[in-house]
Amino acid sequence: MTGRVEGKVAVIVGAARGIGKGIALRFMKEGASLVLADSDAAYGQATADELGVPFIHIDISKMEDAEAAVALALATFGRLDIVVQNAGIYPWQLIENTSPDDWDRVMAVNLRGSFNAARAALVPMKAQGSGRMLFTSSITGPHVTSPGHGHYSATKAGINGFIRSAALEFSGYGITVNGVEPGNILTEGMQEQRGAAFIQNMENAIPLGRLGTPRDVANAFLFLASDDASYITGTTIVVDGGQLLPEGADFRILPS
Ligand SMILES: NC(=O)c1ccc[n+]([C@@H]2O[C@H](COP(=O)([O-])OP(=O)(O)OC[C@H]3O[C@@H](n4cnc5c(N)ncnc54)[C@H](O)[C@@H]3O)[C@@H](O)[C@H]2O)c1
Repeated sequence: MTGRVEGKVAVIVGAARGIGKGIALRFMKEGASLVLADSDAAYGQATADELGVPFIHIDISKMEDAEAAVALALATFGRLDIVVQNAGIYPWQLIENTSPDDWDRVMAVNLRGSFNAARAALVPMKAQGSGRMLFTSSITGPHVTSPGHGHYSATKAGINGFIRSAALEFSGYGITVNGVEPGNILTEGMQEQRGAAFIQNMENAIPLGRLGTPRDVANAFLFLASDDASYITGTTIVVDGGQLLPEGADFRILPS
């Protein structure tokens, strides 16, 4: 432990499991006081009990729920330094099979949820004259994609645009806004939503030879939340084991 977020108060949305839980564990080890928020009440409460921190059951697609998570942090700790909007859904669905309602739900959680988290956190951060807003984007959408990711890709590319706009608008308030673009990370959601063949295919495409862990992603969030990143705003960090690099499918073959 090096206390990189010592004394900071963070709300982490989508913290019950996977990458969000990894962020919570990492931030806690480095000295932050946490409020965990998630739409899965049972999983979320269990994770919060494990860490000994407050939990709030929310749906981040609803503005009043985002505000309730921020209010809990203010009521418990008296301030809010960091918000991490990590909640996201990624149902596998070809565009031709995606209904308008399917489309809207992915937009509502991933994209409107990001707006809601920023809008709710802005109030105390602006009053304090400082804050860190952090978002989980993806390499899927901003850089690459594969079939079945139409709505998801649109949300993650959208989050990157939102990060840039928010960073600019909030720069005068001492608030920085950044994101992390994970590659393929082995999480509960990944195992539920993608089959073994998909996961193996992704592993084969990663130069560093393995899927990422929630801790790999959390390390980038920790940097962006720390004082070391105080002059960084409006950008994203790719954490993908080199997956974006290959020009060809079989990147291990050298020219003969
Ligand atoms: N796993 C990957 O390979 C990968 C890659 C790139 C980006 N991401 C992104 O990382 C984030 C986390 O992914 P993960 O793999 O850990 O998923 P996960 O399903 O394991 O965890 C997501 C968490 O978000 C919560 N959540 C879902 N909808 C919510 C809502 N409406 N309100 C509040 N909480 C909600 C879930 O209950 C769950 O606890 C997502 O934004 C995802 O798009 C994941």
